[in-house]
Amino acid sequence: MQMMGKDSIAILPAAPVRKRNRDVEYAYRQDSDFHYLTGFNEPESVAVLVPGRADGEFLLFCRDSDPAREQWDGRRASPDGAVADFGADEGYEIGAIDDLLPDIISQCDSVYYTMGAQPDFDARLLGWINELRAQSSGGQHTPDEFIALDHLLHDLRLYKSRAEISAMKKAARITVAAHRRAISACRPGMHEYELEAEYLHEFRRNGVESAYQPIVGGGANGCILHYVTNDQPLEDGDLVLADVGAEYDCYAADVTRTWPVNGRFTEAQRALYTIVLAAHDAAIRQVRPGSHWNDPHDAAVREITKGLVRVGLLKGDVKKLIADGKYRRFFMHRTGHWLGMDVHDVGDYKVADHWRLLEPGMVMTIEPGLYIPAARNIPRKWHNIGIRIEDDVLVTKTGCDVLTRALPVDPDALEALAGAATGT
Ligand code: GLY
Ligand code: MN
Ligand code: MN
Repeated sequence: MQMMGKDSIAILPAAPVRKRNRDVEYAYRQDSDFHYLTGFNEPESVAVLVPGRADGEFLLFCRDSDPAREQWDGRRASPDGAVADFGADEGYEIGAIDDLLPDIISQCDSVYYTMGAQPDFDARLLGWINELRAQSSGGQHTPDEFIALDHLLHDLRLYKSRAEISAMKKAARITVAAHRRAISACRPGMHEYELEAEYLHEFRRNGVESAYQPIVGGGANGCILHYVTNDQPLEDGDLVLADVGAEYDCYAADVTRTWPVNGRFTEAQRALYTIVLAAHDAAIRQVRPGSHWNDPHDAAVREITKGLVRVGLLKGDVKKLIADGKYRRFFMHRTGHWLGMDVHDVGDYKVADHWRLLEPGMVMTIEPGLYIPAARNIPRKWHNIGIRIEDDVLVTKTGCDVLTRALPVDPDALEALAGAATGT
């Protein structure tokens, strides 16, 4: 509200319930911006901020209590609960919004709103504004400007508070436990979905969900960046790549490990794994205040390219190969992204055309990878090896804190963990 200033209003609709099929709905997930400001997890709600309003600055419109409906669909906070438990100054029944909100809007000059995210609500808001305009000959005031609320909010969300960091640490802890469970349960002949089940078991026994669709790919499937089919058997001698993260209180972890299905890396697998690990370490060393957003990626690209030349998958001068982007055939994504309430979190990567400087409180992933296709001009021993190592990293005052450090990345430690199942 301080950023918005006087004579302004911010309006945020909750996420709608989404249909999956006929009478079945998708599990409800609140809109991240709405949850960030309210902590309120019900659909059919609208949060309104009016800085300086004498009658109350934070209004929450939500569903009224309705014992008959609640018998079917579950409990509701109700407008009274919005005030008592969620810090609203005033709680109103959502059905009253058409009567109450236009009048409050009419007293403001600036409307902060995220346009385009919810087309149905966009239309309602425009309807209220048009109604006010139609009455303007009768002296009704209408706001002068519409401002993108997401600009302010997403910059705030980029810097995590102590409470947010503690939620992210909890998501990280559960995710680490889930990876440990899956790696040590892994054995040849299992299906990818059985490994996925180990993750989900650990998540649900901790009361959390997946932050995104789990990616569990054995062998060639590990080379498909967003492979989510997860229905193939895991073969003896292959690697398996698992990119799985928990969401705790709307905060995500995003973690990938790659390990040998049978508990032992082949020489070729270990050679490539070692390259990705060197890139991962070099990138993490760049995460500290004052680094540019791109410094970790540049460090990873250097290690990846050097390694590919060393094993003969690329030929030529490292500097020139980097300048020509030759590594992209095998490492085609970036080394990370912001992480927070959204897995690919909000926040600009560039400011005024320059890479952003890292500052304490920012959280990002570090996730270099190598994905080698079964191409004719590539020696067979490298075919279908897909490797990614992904950790979640908080920028601190003095450097960084790897939130997922408790999960091994060292190839020997992974072998020991994976071997626990087979007794090798
Ligand atoms: N899990 C998606 C990503 O790593 O970006
Ligand atoms: Mn990621
Ligand atoms: Mn990931």
